[in-house]
Amino acid sequence: VFNDPQALTLQAAHEISDLINKNNKLNKKTVLCLPTGSTPIGVYRELVRQHVDEGVDWSNVVTFNLDEYYPMDPLSKHSYRHYMQSKLFSHINIKEKNIHIPDGTIPLKSVDKFCEQYEQSIIDEGGIDLALLGIGRSGHIGFNEPGSSSKTITRRIVLDEITRKDAARSFYGIVNVPKSAITMGIKTILDCKRIILMAHGESKATVMKKCLEGEITPHVPATFLRLHHKTSFFLDKASAAELI
Ligand code: F6R
Repeated sequence: VFNDPQALTLQAAHEISDLINKNNKLNKKTVLCLPTGSTPIGVYRELVRQHVDEGVDWSNVVTFNLDEYYPMDPLSKHSYRHYMQSKLFSHINIKEKNIHIPDGTIPLKSVDKFCEQYEQSIIDEGGIDLALLGIGRSGHIGFNEPGSSSKTITRRIVLDEITRKDAARSFYGIVNVPKSAITMGIKTILDCKRIILMAHGESKATVMKKCLEGEITPHVPATFLRLHHKTSFFLDKASAAELI
């Protein structure tokens, strides 16, 4: 539990850049799993700063985003592709071919095939070294909504009403929020070698209590992270307020 969101954000950013620097020295690539949303914005800001001021080199980094709305035009300002470009990718020297984000324009009949290929690309890169996660008030990680088992892999999923409500403001009304998304599964996430889940602010206090102190259950998919031996939960005082 960190004193404030800023401290938590810096710690997460430093762990990511330390890993990139370490792997670069060994001539090894770094494979990251990345989230969108409000939680990681400060992490991306710090990673951009470290690239500009300290020369952290992203040329051998491969990224997989957790999710994308479906359907979604990548050029839309609501797309996670747009979010990643504007917050991180266009400010660092990552190679376009190393960026992977689920494609919200795939025809429905080809979504399953696309998801299989997404899983295969992760395997082809040798697996994910580090996953950064946020958590939704529904208990989701990625868009693995309540009901998602620990065996799930990348797939299309119907979004929970809480999730759509939380997104409504940025979409100017819940009617404009897509009803589904493509997301990595819980198994995909649990296969990552290192996981950092970040939560800050009082709106996450109840879900963090369930996540850390409740029963491990598909009703709160984030609870499965407790089965992963290299997961850290980075909270601030506000999101930790309901913990025993
Ligand atoms: C987004 C994602 C989601 C968010 C979660 C929290 O790519 O995977 O699980 O991390 O909905 O969102 P914020 O950070 O906006 O509270």
